[in-house]
Amino acid sequence: MNQDQLKQAVAQAAVDHIHPRLESRSIIGVGTGSTANCFIDALAKVRHDFDGAVASSEATAARLKSHGIPVYDLNSVAELEFYVDGADETNARLELIKGGGGALTREKIVAAVAKTFVCIADQSKLVERLGAYPLPVEVLPMARSHVARELVKLGGDPEYREGFVTDNGNIILDVHNLLIGDAVALEQQINNIVGVVTNGLFAARPADLLLLGTAEGVRSLT
Ligand code: A5P
Repeated sequence: MNQDQLKQAVAQAAVDHIHPRLESRSIIGVGTGSTANCFIDALAKVRHDFDGAVASSEATAARLKSHGIPVYDLNSVAELEFYVDGADETNARLELIKGGGGALTREKIVAAVAKTFVCIADQSKLVERLGAYPLPVEVLPMARSHVARELVKLGGDPEYREGFVTDNGNIILDVHNLLIGDAVALEQQINNIVGVVTNGLFAARPADLLLLGTAEGVRSLT
């Protein structure tokens, strides 16, 4: 199986996992990226068995709507049973690096609200130690240089993502060469830098279930 087929397999596995647990009033949190897109396409096939979705980005909202799936504002939703999203890296503890697509802040908000975070990824995303993938940090534009200097003090090499503006009107610094030992502590430390909106470490709230696409089939890790 190639990478696209692995993404489709985990997307279908996520639908198979949540579908029996859905009710007609259920609203599903949906992530961003190519794997999340596969999930949206698979979810559309059971469109009549749930109410709608909360999107973690404008791109995801547009794709959901293109399938006729209603998109709700998170503030109007009382309960979110599931959040389903991809990742750029995951370790065996289901701590993640996310934000390659720049949607990390909204992704983290929707993940925080959901009772169960189902991460879907192909096997290339599973690593022993997080950090080979540059860590995205969303930053208020006026704080860019200040935050970059602080990230250097933490041992990273921040790189400005040229020409990219998040859905929230901010910029992204991609931080290379971070040695991520205690991911929970580093997530907090970076979030404490004035001007940071959030960073792409999902460690304080890791995934609850990882559906990992491998050549031998989809593995479930908890
Ligand atoms: C979007 O901001 C990211 O967090 C994505 O979830 C992550 O980059 C995974 O994307 P792919 O599924 O395209 O690899």
